[in-house]
Amino acid sequence: MHFGKTALAQLVVHRFRIGVLTSGGDCPGLNAVIRASVASAHTLGWEVLGFIDGYEGLLSPVNYKILTLENTQGIMPIGGTIIGTTNRGRFAAKQGMGERALIPQPIIDEAKKTLNDLGVRALICIGGDGSLTTADQLFENGVPVVGVPKTIDNDLSATATTFGFDSAVQCVADALDRLHTTAASHKRVMVLEVMGRTAGWIALYGGVAGGADVILIPEIPFSYERLAAHVEKRMAGGASSTLIVVAEGAMAQGGSVATIDGAIKGEVRLGGIGAQIAAEIAERTKRETRAVVLGHLQRGGAPTTQDRNLGTRFGVGAIDLIKEKKFGCMVSYQNYLIGSVSIKEAVGQIKHVPPDGQMVNTAKSVGIHFGV
Ligand code: F6P
Repeated sequence: MHFGKTALAQLVVHRFRIGVLTSGGDCPGLNAVIRASVASAHTLGWEVLGFIDGYEGLLSPVNYKILTLENTQGIMPIGGTIIGTTNRGRFAAKQGMGERALIPQPIIDEAKKTLNDLGVRALICIGGDGSLTTADQLFENGVPVVGVPKTIDNDLSATATTFGFDSAVQCVADALDRLHTTAASHKRVMVLEVMGRTAGWIALYGGVAGGADVILIPEIPFSYERLAAHVEKRMAGGASSTLIVVAEGAMAQGGSVATIDGAIKGEVRLGGIGAQIAAEIAERTKRETRAVVLGHLQRGGAPTTQDRNLGTRFGVGAIDLIKEKKFGCMVSYQNYLIGSVSIKEAVGQIKHVPPDGQMVNTAKSVGIHFGV
């Protein structure tokens, strides 16, 4: 049968089309979320556009690719994100020490127009605090948005945990296992600086899992005097090594957060506290001390099984939110179940380690010192 052009166009059945993007720093488990949302959307007959490099893909030159079962096959164990991300660019919502900045209206309008022109009926934004603030701004401007919380730092209040955290903790524990043997062979003090920004979750959980002797976190400002005295007591008492895990945002009592100069644009970069502590301990105890910065190794590589499962559950949860038209909401994980909360309530509420909480007390009970 032959159809004219108009008749042919009428025959094209437009599938319900949604978009997905990953924004902010990358994180193990992002591809598990993408894969699961594509698979779940596929069962509903929906088409998924993956916008490239986060919100940037919504701006000129618009950049996306159609995500299918075929091109998302086998991506679960792969670190990073197959659709790219950025925590800088025209959509950077975080400035300085994490203060949130509003995205200029012309940029929001352009993104909205792109979504309208492409017939995208809902957008899944996978991101941390800053990226979800932007998602909420889009929602306030009439874009049907749902959020998926992402951060290795585990510092979002609205969810018990985020995918990526467990993989980062695994990386810290692996590093400590390695540092143990070299430190013990040389009878050295080792300081391992880990990520987490203003929260000490990665240091605390990684330190406990890796058998650290000392854990220093932003929530418990430490005393150099007490720290050095503890190290000296251990070493003089015959300990073969002392392993100290320090969160990048930790600081001495009365001191300030160590930062790296030369941030190009956006948030202040934290770092340097590990080297400061190593120098101070060497000076005060005269013991050989070395500092190691674990850095982006914590963000790269394959996600743990826990992060693959959580990412998969979040991806399916995001599609469920769209089905239920719960726009302006993000998926969350509470009491072993996936639920949802409003993005507006979720953002800006940083979850810190309770200094007198169960995990800190557990660590203390097994002899871990907090430098106080
Ligand atoms: O928020 C995740 C995180 O990895 C922090 O722990 C760290 O301070 C920051 O991102 C590093 O960002 P960048 O990759 O821009 O250096």
